[in-house]
Amino acid sequence: MTRKHLLFPLGLLVFAFSLSAQPDIDRQVEELLAKMTLEEKAGQMMQLTADMLFDGAPYVLTNPRRIDPAKVEKVIKEYKVGSILNVPTGKVPNVTEWHDLISMIQQKAAETRLKIPILYGTDDIHGVNYCSDATLFPQPLAMASTWNPGLAEKVGAITAYEAKAASLTWNFSPALDVGRNPVWSRLWESFGEDVYMNKVMGVATVKGYQGDNFGAADKVLACLKHYAGYGWPVSGKDRTPAYIPEVQLRELFLPAYQATIDAGAMSLMVNSGEISGVPVHASKFMLTDVLRGELGFKGFVVSDWEDIILLHTRHKVASSVKEAVRIAIEAGIDMSMVPVTFEFRDYVVELVNEGQLSMERIDESVRRILNVKMLGGLFQKTVFDPNDYPLFGSDAHRAVSKQAALESVILLKNENEVLPLSKSSRVLVTGPTANTMRSLNGGWSYNWQGTEADNYQKDKNTILEAIRAKLGEDQVKYVPGSGYDEIIDIEAAVQATENVDGIILCLGELSYTEVEGNISDLNLPAAQHELAAALARTGKPIILVLAEGRPRLIRETAPYASGILATFYPGPEGGDALADVLFGDYNPDGKLALTYPKYPHSLTTYDHKHTEALSFGSGPVFDPQFTFGSGLSYTTFTYKNLRTSSPSLQAGGRLVVSVEVHNTGGRAGQEVVQLYTSDLYASVTPSVRRLRAFEKVSLAPGEYKTVSFTLEPKDLSFIGQDKKWVTEPGIFKIRIGELEADLKYED
Ligand code: BGC
Repeated sequence: MTRKHLLFPLGLLVFAFSLSAQPDIDRQVEELLAKMTLEEKAGQMMQLTADMLFDGAPYVLTNPRRIDPAKVEKVIKEYKVGSILNVPTGKVPNVTEWHDLISMIQQKAAETRLKIPILYGTDDIHGVNYCSDATLFPQPLAMASTWNPGLAEKVGAITAYEAKAASLTWNFSPALDVGRNPVWSRLWESFGEDVYMNKVMGVATVKGYQGDNFGAADKVLACLKHYAGYGWPVSGKDRTPAYIPEVQLRELFLPAYQATIDAGAMSLMVNSGEISGVPVHASKFMLTDVLRGELGFKGFVVSDWEDIILLHTRHKVASSVKEAVRIAIEAGIDMSMVPVTFEFRDYVVELVNEGQLSMERIDESVRRILNVKMLGGLFQKTVFDPNDYPLFGSDAHRAVSKQAALESVILLKNENEVLPLSKSSRVLVTGPTANTMRSLNGGWSYNWQGTEADNYQKDKNTILEAIRAKLGEDQVKYVPGSGYDEIIDIEAAVQATENVDGIILCLGELSYTEVEGNISDLNLPAAQHELAAALARTGKPIILVLAEGRPRLIRETAPYASGILATFYPGPEGGDALADVLFGDYNPDGKLALTYPKYPHSLTTYDHKHTEALSFGSGPVFDPQFTFGSGLSYTTFTYKNLRTSSPSLQAGGRLVVSVEVHNTGGRAGQEVVQLYTSDLYASVTPSVRRLRAFEKVSLAPGEYKTVSFTLEPKDLSFIGQDKKWVTEPGIFKIRIGELEADLKYED
């Protein structure tokens, strides 16, 4: 019997075990619940940040930070909080330090009356990024640019393994915030603008984190966030209002949640923003009717940071914090990420005693939290020995990070095949993103804003260091030229072009997240453009390397460059990956998971409506800088023989679409075969096209493969005027590459 055959029945066994264990767990939860006081129940619903256990004020950087025993006593013994989150402010713990911190916390919890273990949550969004010696990976938008869900699952599995090595069991990831506004400061935390991509990458990531059983020794509990519609603020600024009609909410934002809930996700975090005037933290419709009633979510719901308090102080829908607590719990929130005050528990107790909240509602939340703690195995084991995780931070894990980084690099322009460059070239490397790990890692890297990556990744190569390692020091000159938005020494950069064959111009962004990353102008800052313009006047060929978290507009800069590569935070191996692509050691195969806009007032997604591309001669047309799904290669691919297994599809039926993809160039490479459909006429205005399936294939020069996709009627469906999914009879166009076929759907 092969290993594969052996594994399958074992997987089934685990699944069968978890199903059969549920009645037992239910019984144990009820027994525990029956013993709990109201204060203990409210404590379970409360989450505080780790700083609340340390000396000094929360968020204030003091080094070294010391645990304050009186605070530990208060948080764990007196308030009996159910959960703690975050990295303590200050020096980032290594795996052993995490182990020691979690051991101390769980030891204290074991000394409480009911010995309920604490669920510790961290944002391990690209590896265990709050653990100084863990393996870090590309950020989600870069993972989406690989169009390789298998790789995303592997990355998720390694993240879970390394988290468990640090005794971290709950990961606030994946973000399923379909990134519909490219200005948004958290776009790079998403899988891009497409609903299908978010679904596929979300499911792969959850599978990687949780496998069949998130209580396993190498798995963690995933937390879907930020439910829902967080990625579409009108202004593009974080946590500002969104206006999302129910049709779009259901069609664009809920599918990724439905798919990941079906894949076993058992915790979920709420969108901090408001939709059509209702903060999601106060929305019973979203948190109970839709989430539980329709999507069938069985896990527990955690608020985002301080968001219950903000219902009073920021959103102004509650006249006091206590009223905010009532509204949020009534809406469906089970756990409050408070996270720096104690009043939540006392308000819950008062609200129940005053009859403003029912004990049944509180029991419901506590039951959900305890259920997840039991499923996660926390009542058996809370601390894991780092020595049992020999692959933690290993070369094998690093190799996966490098592969993911390579596959995330997107070649967007290659005039006269300027790329790959010869390794004997002499180059000038310049620009604000050339020599910093911040532009490769983004936020949530060692700290929230990712500002410390250069200190923690001294052994990793920036773009400049990677090019030097590849070509040798003598062949590479470096002048910063400009900072992110200030001129440094453009003249010196121009002078340094003497005696070089070409310029590698690294522009883009540093690291940021959330409100700190808000911008009022999507254009690349003027200083960066000026650097490009001055270098262009030298006449030397320019290769533009974009290292950024969102598509900063390059309409005026792009014409200066003969070659353009884009990265959306490819992680610590990103510098080496870029050098491999620049100098031909890797044939690029990344594709855009977003529409790269050209103009600030044309931020139209690829799946727009026909009327969004109206043209009456001089009117606006859909004219992005680069299209969704695009990305060049050093070889060429040709599509032939698009076929459907039948000219029509019936309700309940299936149809196979196949196409041949040929490598017609001279190099081996990978191509992403993308299948789009267009509904020609529909009762709700149809999108111009929609991505329905994709597959990445490797081809040697001269080789071809036939790729097949199976379509069902639901793959052609949309949300109708009655707010329900429907597939309407009629003609659909199927498109792969330049090829098209008609398909008739009959009810
Ligand atoms: C962010 C969440 C994150 C949470 C905990 C919030 O500010 O919006 O994405 O999971 O903090 O760190």
